[in-house]
Amino acid sequence: MTVLQIDSSITGAASASRTLTQAIVDRLGRDDVVYRDVAADPLPHLTERGQDEHILDEFLAADTVVIGAPMYNFTIPSQLKAWIDRILVAGKTFQYGANGPEGLVGDKRVIVAVARGGFYDEGSPAAGMEHVETYLRGVFGFIGIVPEFVIASGLAIGPEQREESIRSALGETVRLAA
Ligand SMILES: Cc1cc2nc3c(=O)[nH]c(=O)nc-3n(C[C@H](O)[C@H](O)[C@H](O)COP(=O)(O)O)c2cc1C
Repeated sequence: MTVLQIDSSITGAASASRTLTQAIVDRLGRDDVVYRDVAADPLPHLTERGQDEHILDEFLAADTVVIGAPMYNFTIPSQLKAWIDRILVAGKTFQYGANGPEGLVGDKRVIVAVARGGFYDEGSPAAGMEHVETYLRGVFGFIGIVPEFVIASGLAIGPEQREESIRSALGETVRLAA
């Protein structure tokens, strides 16, 4: 089994989500890390033709998956969506049974590092525009996984807030690895 690290930020070395995924992976302390950068090497959009199952196999082979999910226009980058499109596969990661949809992926740890420019706390005016954490919680729940989240918010508010939010999220990574 492996750790699969997925980054999707377009902002390179300045990326908060990349900083967080790397910190999480470092804290896991594993030497079997498979790295995929869907911003540097974008996956094509889905088509009706059969898809290469390499991405799905890579996901299934990992016991732990660490995903960097920056918020772009209130949701995940389309590059990350193209990856999600390859891991939600009927008959492989979910199926429809007598009682509705059933997730088929058990026993896998998924840790998502979210980076957002604004604040989306429950009850706040922008809460209804949060489609990163809510979407990924739904997507992974659908295939049978309860994801864990490390979230840095308010990164576009100003340099002090950015520093404080990243520091606090980095602190969270200690708890995750414990
Ligand atoms: C193209 C683009 C779109 C963005 N859209 C939003 C948005 O809708 N809401 C928000 O709170 N922040 C938005 N931001 C700010 C990012 O979420 C913030 O910069 C975050 O740090 C991105 O993660 P990264 O540092 O890993 O790239 C956007 C940033 C970019 C570059």
